[in-house]
Amino acid sequence: MEKNIEKVLVTEEQIQSKVAEFAEILSAEYADKDPVFVGVLKGVVVFFADVVRKITVPCEIDFMCLSSYGGTDSTGNVTVKKDLSVDIKGRHVVILEDIYDTGNSLSFLHKYLLSKEPASLKICTLLDKPERRKSDIKADYAGTFVPNEFVVGYGLDYAEYYRNLPFIGVLKESVYENNN
Ligand code: IMP
Ligand code: MG
Repeated sequence: MEKNIEKVLVTEEQIQSKVAEFAEILSAEYADKDPVFVGVLKGVVVFFADVVRKITVPCEIDFMCLSSYGGTDSTGNVTVKKDLSVDIKGRHVVILEDIYDTGNSLSFLHKYLLSKEPASLKICTLLDKPERRKSDIKADYAGTFVPNEFVVGYGLDYAEYYRNLPFIGVLKESVYENNN
């Protein structure tokens, strides 16, 4: 698996220091607010598990799964594949995401969750890839900048693989050619 990596963009240590930083900020910000952390499946699972285990205040967790579809490259059509199980009306909600890329999924999700009338709604993303951005939603807590390259690892996949790498990297061209 690692033989298919061209380069590492964010090391395990760099990721873990961001995770600790986010957990500290969120624990301070949401102390006594009984927050709900909402993870966007599947890419967020590794980041989500690491962050919530470092949160030191009471909280609930929940997940949503979205799917994008459309003929051409990302038309912005997003649907809910798995909805929340917690009622977030009147609750303080933080969306956790792996990467903020075009913003199609986050802008949909932001609007969707606001319609459920939370007391507050914020966004925390580990990676920020602003070059292909189509939305003006602000990420309240944004981690590491990544250039306009397809990245894998730490939850992010290529064709459902590489999510279990502990770092964020870029695949070799040959992987796309051979499709393995
Ligand atoms: P969006 O373009 O901001 O709507 O991103 C939608 C989702 O696509 C993200 O939450 C990721 O799960 C996935 N995604 C975006 N960029 C990458 C990438 O470089 N590698 C792997 N998955 C990505
Ligand atoms: Mg995601």
